[in-house]
Amino acid sequence: MSKTEQQEAEYIINTYNRKPGLTPCLVRGEGVYVWDKGGKKYLDFLGGLAVNVIGHCHPQVVEAICKQAGILSHVSNIYYSVPQVKLAEQLIQNTMPGGKVFFANSGTEAIEAAIKLSRRYKPGRFKIISAERSFHGRTLAALTATGQLKYREHFNPLPEGFSYATYNDLESFAALIDEQTAAILIEPVQGEGGIYVAEENFISGLRELCDREGILLIFDEIQSGMGRTGKLWAHQNWGVRPDLMAVAKGLGGGLPIGALVAAEDYTSVFEPGDHASTFGGNPVVCSAAMAVLKIILTEGFLDDVHEKGLYLKKGLEKLISSYPDLAAEYRGLGLMCALELKKPVARQIYEKCITTGLLINAVGDTTLRLLPPLIITMDELQEGIDIIGSALTEC
Ligand SMILES: Cc1ncc(COP(=O)(O)O)c(C=O)c1O
Repeated sequence: MSKTEQQEAEYIINTYNRKPGLTPCLVRGEGVYVWDKGGKKYLDFLGGLAVNVIGHCHPQVVEAICKQAGILSHVSNIYYSVPQVKLAEQLIQNTMPGGKVFFANSGTEAIEAAIKLSRRYKPGRFKIISAERSFHGRTLAALTATGQLKYREHFNPLPEGFSYATYNDLESFAALIDEQTAAILIEPVQGEGGIYVAEENFISGLRELCDREGILLIFDEIQSGMGRTGKLWAHQNWGVRPDLMAVAKGLGGGLPIGALVAAEDYTSVFEPGDHASTFGGNPVVCSAAMAVLKIILTEGFLDDVHEKGLYLKKGLEKLISSYPDLAAEYRGLGLMCALELKKPVARQIYEKCITTGLLINAVGDTTLRLLPPLIITMDELQEGIDIIGSALTEC
């Protein structure tokens, strides 16, 4: 074992399943590449799990961070803060004119804020309906909203009032609504569950259902947002607006941030003291986020993401026809996609890719998840597709 592996085994609580001798120790990143301690270079098709949307160490983000760190790195939320209000203005103007933002530090916290706001909205309405196979985070309420038993089963008793319907089955959501229901919570594209894209009828049907029943529609855009699907937010692909939206991951350009965006009708639900965060809306993180947003909103950037998404889709579909015994299906939207396998070899392929210098993710036994930085070029996409192809050959 290397010294770092030994120290990790000795001092870090084992929650991440790192493998000595296989899992790289990453020390440097630039663009779509990262390097390990031994100098080996990897093409990053995982992008820090959808965080590094504009790649690693983008010069504009580095500059924004360094500049703000030298001026004021933290200020209590008791006070006004210029980077915080500027970022909020940018988010609202590009997302939900008339709405407002609450800043937190992670996706989970953005979801917690959405759940609390939904419960605060109408007294007596506290139930949240989410989808099976969903993932919404790890704190107790976000975990309970997560529609995967494996994450919840050891942490009982969990908070009350959560139930799970079937993704893309509108009737199953309608059937769970009662007079105590506060909100429906879904990912427009399910990420951790293995990349499942909402069908148009389903997502627009949910909007109509929530309007009819007087309940809130919450979109978890933590993984699918920030340009990943070729639109700033995935829900813009269907033109369906949420009442609340949870954002995180890619927004901070590698620094921790979470944000709850509330539509106009819900901006006065929380009152002072109802919710708070010590670090939420930190000046350095907000400065980084503004730099990220500026890049993503540059004219043509999102159209390029759409084109690159089509290129990746085509490349994966070619692999499916070249390896019919092993590769089953492409799922995805933009640069958020999965290759479904016919055999339980996802972990094996993931390990082979690491050896060859490509970082991807195995979700369960049969799904490979790809979330490359949005700044990737077609040539770099092809490089990754070829490495996955070689790993399929070896399997
Ligand atoms: C859709 C979704 N929601 C919530 C979360 C939790 O975010 P965080 O890990 O920042 O707390 C994640 C993280 O993977 C996610 O993908």
